[in-house]
Amino acid sequence: MPFLGHAIPLMRDNLGFIASLRRSYGELVEITLQPGTRTIIVQDPELIRAMLVDLGPSLDKGRFFEKMSQLLGDSVVTAAGKNHVRKRRQLQPAFARGEIARYVDIMRDEVTATVDSWKPGQVIDVREAMVGLSLDMLARTVFSGSLDDTTFRRLREDLSVVMNGVGARIMLPDWTEKLPLPFNRRFDQARSAVRATIERAVDDLKASGHDTGDMLSLLLRARDEETGQPLTGHQICSEILTLAVAGTETTASVLSWLLYELARHSDVEARVLAELDEVLGERPVTFEDVGHLPYLRRVIDEVLRLHHTGWLVTRRTITETQLGKWTLPAGTELAYCQHALHRDPRLFLNPLAFDPDRWVESEQPAPSNAFLPFGAGKHQCIGDRFALTELITAIATIVRTVRLVPADKKPVRPVARATVRPRTLRMAVRPREEAIRP
Ligand code: HEM
Repeated sequence: MPFLGHAIPLMRDNLGFIASLRRSYGELVEITLQPGTRTIIVQDPELIRAMLVDLGPSLDKGRFFEKMSQLLGDSVVTAAGKNHVRKRRQLQPAFARGEIARYVDIMRDEVTATVDSWKPGQVIDVREAMVGLSLDMLARTVFSGSLDDTTFRRLREDLSVVMNGVGARIMLPDWTEKLPLPFNRRFDQARSAVRATIERAVDDLKASGHDTGDMLSLLLRARDEETGQPLTGHQICSEILTLAVAGTETTASVLSWLLYELARHSDVEARVLAELDEVLGERPVTFEDVGHLPYLRRVIDEVLRLHHTGWLVTRRTITETQLGKWTLPAGTELAYCQHALHRDPRLFLNPLAFDPDRWVESEQPAPSNAFLPFGAGKHQCIGDRFALTELITAIATIVRTVRLVPADKKPVRPVARATVRPRTLRMAVRPREEAIRP
């Protein structure tokens, strides 16, 4: 539509609209996301991989990430090229296997506290509960040794306001941020408060000279490879703010869908419980178990396929760029949609069926180019191992303690906001017979 572009179908049903493009058009299709912003949606799996892997280092991250950088500062999530390589190297040690092994106890304590707060018979908003839990798991990992309880609770509330605000702002035109609305004021206040708290924690840590063993301490030890300089308080803030955005809504949406699918498929749930019984017996889940629960891992892969959280991941060409047989001018906005890719019937047999056994190698080889749960190339998710550890720890703890059953009869629909998530997911808490508690 003149002036409006594709705003109307996008507002009406953004996921449905993007999915319809795969049915109707070929390798690339141009749409107008917002008036004046034309974007090429890359649909072919080979070309998506070429964009992420081969062209990855020579592309900018595109408009969504640019917006995130305006809101939260420059970070590994928003940076491109050499700047990105440097930032990624600085952050990588915090996501090393050995560190994640140390984070598991913190994660499990947070899950246990969440489940303990649920009463039998209570109906919970699962998505809201999982956003809270994911934020707690991440924030405790970052700050466990560096903040007292009161400061931590305040920071956690402010981080939650910032995360929600970023999700909404990424999709809205820039001028809406300037409106004198309570929503904007609350966002600005929360962002300033988070920055002030983290910068104070960094100063205190530096002054004390202690290593508190949390992720904040690791970030403080990181050095810029070129200059040998440590990260400044401001840089550490930007990294933590974007980690909270990249690592909370995503994990929360996957956890919500996992609980939903387990409740709908009692046979799958029974197999998950049997595997947990066999591997863990009476004891709580530990980091060593994460690699020894193959059936639960297949269930998670199937949720990452059917309910991927990625709506549009963007990139932008810096110079004239060849993508397959196409020549793209400098400044071309590109995007791809994992949710639509993972549901394409040309790539996955019976794609709308939830079937963890499709990942048994002998049954049906997974199309390697078509399944990109954590992206690919230089910008592949730095938190993939962290996320899988969170998912396994949370599910192993939740399903052995309580049974969650959908409170509404209607099937739950996905909706694309900051991530693709359940529109509403209300579930009732039932005690699990012979619950196994840590
Ligand atoms: C199941 C949960 C998660 C999913 C599905 C997911 C998915 C992704 C994907 C697809 C990307 C690539 C984006 C691109 O190509 O530009 C990405 C990047 C990233 N993710 Fe995750 N993620 C998850 C959890 C996490 C967690 C828990 C963290 C941190 C604690 C995290 C931190 C990041 C960061 C920092 C990047 C940017 C990496 C870079 O550009 O070098 N993610 N994630």
